[in-house]
Amino acid sequence: MKALVLIKQSDPFHSFETRELPKPRPKAGEVLIKVAASGLNFADVMARKGLYKEAPPLPSVLGYDVSGTIEELGEGVTRFQIGDRVTAMTRFGGYAEYAATNASAVALIPSQMDNATATALTTQYCTAYYAAAEMVQLHAGDKVLVQSGAGGVGTALIQYARYKGCEIFATAGSQDKMDYLRSIGVDHPIQYTLQDFEKMVMEITNGEGVDAIFDAVGGSSVKKGFRSLAAGGRIVCYGAADMSDKNLFGKINAALGFGFYHPAMLMTPSKSIIGINMLRIADHKPAMIQKCLESVISLSTEGVFTPLIGKIFKATEIGLAHEYLEKRKSMGKVVVSWE
Ligand SMILES: NC(=O)c1ccc[n+]([C@@H]2O[C@H](COP(=O)([O-])OP(=O)(O)OC[C@H]3O[C@@H](n4cnc5c(N)ncnc54)[C@H](OP(=O)(O)O)[C@@H]3O)[C@@H](O)[C@H]2O)c1
Repeated sequence: MKALVLIKQSDPFHSFETRELPKPRPKAGEVLIKVAASGLNFADVMARKGLYKEAPPLPSVLGYDVSGTIEELGEGVTRFQIGDRVTAMTRFGGYAEYAATNASAVALIPSQMDNATATALTTQYCTAYYAAAEMVQLHAGDKVLVQSGAGGVGTALIQYARYKGCEIFATAGSQDKMDYLRSIGVDHPIQYTLQDFEKMVMEITNGEGVDAIFDAVGGSSVKKGFRSLAAGGRIVCYGAADMSDKNLFGKINAALGFGFYHPAMLMTPSKSIIGINMLRIADHKPAMIQKCLESVISLSTEGVFTPLIGKIFKATEIGLAHEYLEKRKSMGKVVVSWE
């Protein structure tokens, strides 16, 4: 099979090589998927640049989500049949013509759903669902701030917050992203390159702050976010994109920028900090991944979740796809197609 192999940690155009690799065999409890579309996630950019601790050693095949058809069932798998159209999370290995993954991270997709949309629903929508529904439990009337709102996870968080009847604040980095945020129901879009989000949030909420913040920017964005929380507020930290384009000194600064929090600093103002790493959840609570995936597919069937497809590249254009995501050009999901 063909696979897009990460051969070195370099720029988008010199990091990948298309190689012939043996087709994986599904182990017990796994399925083998013939991949139609491989999803990109921002963590792939971090991994390509050597900034992702959990990434496999080089040469490696990245990729957290795929959609396609089931080609082979591992021992003990009874939930699926050969030929089923599915979307699935992979623990790396998704940038290839075939991927084997645990059946608990696989879901059937409705016949009318295209492969790119299905791919968007796995890692990004499941992360958003786990954060907003399982960890924070948003309620009607909650004031919610979504950082990087025009991205894949950001779009999913906004759609869920809207479904729950929340008042939504969201940040993004350009004017066209402001228009997009308005179009998906954000009440208070904030262009962080021109406006200070902490100041805007405090002004609009008359100094009270918001009930929940979802932040994958990291660094000082978290410290400012923590200050922007109302009593009972929770900030979910699930990424550190801010570290992706910095030199060593910048990274240390960004790491220190998160701030240091003694439990008394959480207890007295009644604020919480929640950390999420979906890989750890997949390792230790596979049933939770299955629950998130099924909930996400069901909400998409109801029309609550409608992923935006940022751009579809050919598999051979993996460099262009990475550049597109890294340079903040994307809104919604970026995929590469094998068809
Ligand atoms: N913890 C987990 O388990 C988990 C799971 C999935 C995703 N994540 C994290 O969630 C975040 C969103 O992932 P995604 O796949 O949906 O990506 P994405 O949001 O579609 O794309 C990344 C966006 O991040 C923003 N950004 C902020 N600082 C940036 C920087 N220094 N360089 C480049 N972009 C920057 C940009 O939007 P603006 O132009 O608006 O700034 C960019 O478009 C990522 O940080 C990812 O690592 C974590």
